[in-house]
Amino acid sequence: MLQGGRYAKVSVFGGEKEASDFLVRKWEEIARVAIQERGIFVVALSGGKTPRVIYERLAELKEQLPWNRTHIFLVDERVVPFSHRDSNYGMLAKTLLEKVSIPPDNCHPIPVDAPSPEVAAREYEGKLRAFFHLSTEKPVFDLILLGLGEDGHTASLFPGEDFSVDTGRLATSAILDAERHNRLTLTLPVINSARNVVFVVTGRNKARVLRRVIEEGDSALPASLVRPIGYCLFVIDEEAASCLSGRKTRGEC
Ligand code: 6PG
Repeated sequence: MLQGGRYAKVSVFGGEKEASDFLVRKWEEIARVAIQERGIFVVALSGGKTPRVIYERLAELKEQLPWNRTHIFLVDERVVPFSHRDSNYGMLAKTLLEKVSIPPDNCHPIPVDAPSPEVAAREYEGKLRAFFHLSTEKPVFDLILLGLGEDGHTASLFPGEDFSVDTGRLATSAILDAERHNRLTLTLPVINSARNVVFVVTGRNKARVLRRVIEEGDSALPASLVRPIGYCLFVIDEEAASCLSGRKTRGEC
């Protein structure tokens, strides 16, 4: 049990390879159940550096996975062309989508070529409503894969805003500095509606913020507000776990 009454499981692995192998098995398990129950597996994936190795491992499995029944959305996106080195969809396409036989119609990038980030967010909302046949409900993803920034952000929900208020929005935009790019992101209520949320966090640089999220439930950190209706799992390596209670702490936490 985590702070604030949230239940989440924490699985610690020796390193990135063990963690990604475990995640691939989890992906297969959740996909199998989703397809048995609803005929399709609908997942939302994050960008950044950490999940690359997972997407590369998934690509190695090729046709062992049911790509024709799998629909891939993005958790968030930087407002840059897909060809830009910082594009989440561009990274996902290179590491996974171009290497497996997933039908193009099953790939649902966040539109980055709209006249403004806010228009892009509204367009993405429209895609979500159409795909999930929604009126006022939230989309329910079978799996949402999240990362964790050193500042406690997840998706593109950054500290400094109150994301806990359900405004009814499914996707919003964030105007950031040029280095981080303007962002488009699923909202917290959408993330918290998922059947399964898996955080993937590796590296010593994430140890302190991970302790604030997992053990302190620091509500100033957007990642601490992720309390899905379904299952919540942190897949972390020893380095990222090094500030958690009972771990061999190296250096200050
Ligand atoms: C993004 C991600 C973001 C990411 C964290 C961690 O667009 O960057 O969605 O939320 O998960 O910033 O990023 P790293 O995995 O690169 O540390």
